[in-house]
Amino acid sequence: MDLDQLAALRTPEGSAALAAAAGLAGGDPLAAASALRSAGVPPALAAAALTQAELRHRAVGKFGPAAAGMFLTRAGLEQATRRVVADRRAERLHAAGVRTLADLGCGLGADALAAARAGIRVYGVEADPVTAEMAAANAAAAGLAERFTVECGDATAFDVSRVDGVFCDPARRRAGTGRRIFDPRAYSPPWDFVTGLAERVPRTVVKVAPGLDHALIPPGAEAEWVSVDGDLVEAALWCGELAREPRRATVHRQEGAGFRRHELTGSGAVEAPVGPPRRYLYDPDAAVVRAHLVAELAGELDATLGDPSIAYLYGDQPTRTPYARCLEVTDVLPFSLKRLRALLRDRRVGRVEILKRGSALTPEQLRKDLRLAGDQAASLVLTRVAGSPTVLVCRPVD
Ligand SMILES: C[S@@+](CC[C@H](N)C(=O)[O-])C[C@H]1O[C@@H](n2cnc3c(N)ncnc32)[C@H](O)[C@@H]1O
Repeated sequence: MDLDQLAALRTPEGSAALAAAAGLAGGDPLAAASALRSAGVPPALAAAALTQAELRHRAVGKFGPAAAGMFLTRAGLEQATRRVVADRRAERLHAAGVRTLADLGCGLGADALAAARAGIRVYGVEADPVTAEMAAANAAAAGLAERFTVECGDATAFDVSRVDGVFCDPARRRAGTGRRIFDPRAYSPPWDFVTGLAERVPRTVVKVAPGLDHALIPPGAEAEWVSVDGDLVEAALWCGELAREPRRATVHRQEGAGFRRHELTGSGAVEAPVGPPRRYLYDPDAAVVRAHLVAELAGELDATLGDPSIAYLYGDQPTRTPYARCLEVTDVLPFSLKRLRALLRDRRVGRVEILKRGSALTPEQLRKDLRLAGDQAASLVLTRVAGSPTVLVCRPVD
């Protein structure tokens, strides 16, 4: 997509092509292209409209119904923040008194739009001209063009003295190849610039990949890990006045038509007590594990670890918690394929889900090797207990 194609999509003819393409998204692409062309849509416009329709279709999971009016690129959509996560961040920024915000590398504008919806005046800066134009179009489509404006340029040149808060979500994919960048020091804008923002603006938030090494957390910053329905989606560094707790795990879970948010906080430096496996096993949410808050969760559940280096917790009660999945342990065996196969055969187990932490076994291979037969189901947990390879046979607790 280039600027001319984007401009064509924003004409009345382009809107009509987008509306026609929306009804064809998700089906056979060749049939869709020929349907648009036979309706008189020029081929280049038809192709651009169909790409948008397909991206909008995919974006519904992230943005909900608003996706239908957005302009998107593949790379921009992949890196964009989900609405539930962006809305929470915006709400927190607003509650901390931020009224003007710079979004340095605003991409398609998912975070900026959330801040604008929360009542914050947002100045977006985006290096890529098409993405910048799309962000502006997205602001207009959301009726937020007065609260979110975008300039195309280098974020490092933005005068941050104009705003009372800064948000930066650096690109974690290489421009051109789209390849993922794992080392924050290779982010764009550069990591030194991003972390240096906190020294210049007392209310700075930086979004980073959830694999962030704790050693890179700036001193005094709050590091938050966020999951949505069990998927770890991002980490964020809340700097300066915005830091409230050293570590936070924010867990969003779908409830009915919306999401419910749960937040666990702590120092991230406490060790959980260790003991033998007990009747119930808790598999903590990845946000809790990455935030190093397993000990805080153990305290809430009155639970212990079976091994000091593995994040499975064990307790005597099946306590309902948003921070972990609970399984009832029926058997604990030192790992032996032969013994496990015999036990599952006796129980007529034909279906298993396999969870693992601290085990080198490959679930797919194990599933084959078990040669399962029967009408019963079980959950197998491959792990270590006090250093020894162990398998726990479990059943889910409702
Ligand atoms: C991860 S994306 C932002 C996504 C955005 N927060 C959202 O949720 O839609 C990062 C963006 O920063 C832009 N970018 C990278 N380096 C930049 C720079 N030096 N100045 C301005 N923009 C930059 C990239 O083009 C990319 O669109």
